[in-house]
Parts: sequence; structure tokens; C-alpha cells
Amino acid sequence: MHEQIQKRIESIITNLDQLPSIPDVAGRVINMVNDPELSFKSMADEISKDQAITTNILKLCNSAFFSKGKEITSVDRAIVTLGIKEVKDIVVIAATREVLNKAILGYDLQRGELWTHGLAVAILAKKIALAKNKKAVADVAFTGGIIHDVGKTVLALFVSNTFKEILSTVESKKITFNAAEREVMGYDHQEIGEKVLAKWKFPEVLKAMVRFHHDPALAPKEFLEMVSIVHIANVLCLMGGIGIGADGLYHELSDVAIKALGVTNKELEQFYSDLPVVLKQTKDML
Ligand SMILES: [Fe+2]
Ligand SMILES: [Fe+2]
Repeated sequence: MHEQIQKRIESIITNLDQLPSIPDVAGRVINMVNDPELSFKSMADEISKDQAITTNILKLCNSAFFSKGKEITSVDRAIVTLGIKEVKDIVVIAATREVLNKAILGYDLQRGELWTHGLAVAILAKKIALAKNKKAVADVAFTGGIIHDVGKTVLALFVSNTFKEILSTVESKKITFNAAEREVMGYDHQEIGEKVLAKWKFPEVLKAMVRFHHDPALAPKEFLEMVSIVHIANVLCLMGGIGIGADGLYHELSDVAIKALGVTNKELEQFYSDLPVVLKQTKDML
């Protein structure tokens, strides 16, 4: 363990200014949608306060993945046509793009690769949620997919300095990449990701999805299904080569997650064979 590195990471996570920021509107909208009394108007007002994001949102509303055929030219229309939860997911995409759409060199991800990976995991996670009759939380699965690897944006620098050691730890101890991150640096990208979401004021379920996406067996019971959805979507995307960085080969599909969701082998094959469509939908959104 590199104590120097561990101390530097510790100082980053205790000094929130050093963690990545996103427009405040995302945190507010994400918490708003849980209010059963929420009106279309108050959500539209909240979003429209941020002009820069509004332009981006309208573009996404008209992308092949979200569009319902009719052209959308205002946030009000977007909410009426697509619904509150879809628009919330679009706000999250628009708000996190800047943080996630950059090169993550320590993990060997070129610019755009982490972003494409997150969107693909999001789309597949939503498909899995729908296939397992969890329509009510399909939007949460989608959001979790987008941001699950956000911790990598913070850890990348440290990983690039310790990469050889992390890899040799993976091999000598027969552990996963994130477990080796912890051995070498004292933290893994899941723990850092959870801290980032705390700064963004995202809800507990999303924090759990980020914190345990490689270790569903450790997730609190109440969040296990949601964690499992993102876990499975992530591993399948990596198997399919979508956003596969330096750590791509060192993650395993968890039996706990498979069992928690009751996913059959046939369903896994189906999700895997959906990947070309998922990738096409992802590209339409870029
Ligand atoms: Fe990850
Ligand atoms: Fe991932």
C-alpha cells in the first residue's frame, strides 16, 4: 500500500472542492422526481433556469433513443411528451457529460470511451429492468448506468502511477481490479464514486449502485436489485468490448446479482445479443 497516495486521495475526498462538479439543476431534479405531488410546471421552471443545459436537453429529447416522433422545442413540451422520469434522465446526461466525456488515461480510456460505456450500460440497465418487470425503477437503472464509473475520473492519475503494481496484485492474489485498487491505493473507484455522488446530493439508491457495482454481494439488501442491474449491464458491456479500458478483463459476473434478479442464462444471452442495438442507440445520443 502506498501511504502517500492514500493520504492524497483522502485529502481529495475530504475537501469537496477537489471532486468534480456538475450543474446544481441535476441534483435538484433527481430529488424532485420522488415527490408524488411534483407538477410539470415546477420541474420545467427548475430546468429552464439553466439555459446552457436547456439547449442540450432539447437536442437529447429529439434523439432517436428518447424521441416519440414529434419534434420537441421546449422543456414544457418535453415533460408532457416524454414524462417526468425520462426528462430527469436526460437532465442527468446533459449535466454529467462534461465530467464523464474526457480521456481517463490511467484506465487507458480515450476521450469519449468512458462516456460511451456509461451510456451503453445505462441503456442496457434500463432494458434489463424492463425485462425483469421493474418498469417503475427503469429510469433509476438508467441514471445509475451513466454515472457508475464516475470515480475513475478522480482516481485516474493515481492509477496511472501505480498501474503495474495494481495489475501484478490482480495476478498474484487472484483478485478483481477494484480489489487491487484498494490494496495498492487504499481506495477503489467505487468508493470515490460514492463520495462524488454525495457532493452532487444524489439519492442513496444511486450511491449504492455506484459503491457496489463490482461487489453486489456487499450491497445493502434494500438496494441489491438495483445494484445487480447495473452490475450485470456493466459486465455484459465489458464482455462486448464497450468501453473496455485497462481493467476491462478483470471483472466477474456475480452469482449474487444473477440470483437477486432471477436472471436465466437465456436472458443473459438475450441481453448480450442486444449489445449491437444498444451501441447504435448510444451513438445516436453522443
Ligand atoms: Fe467500475
Ligand atoms: Fe463500468
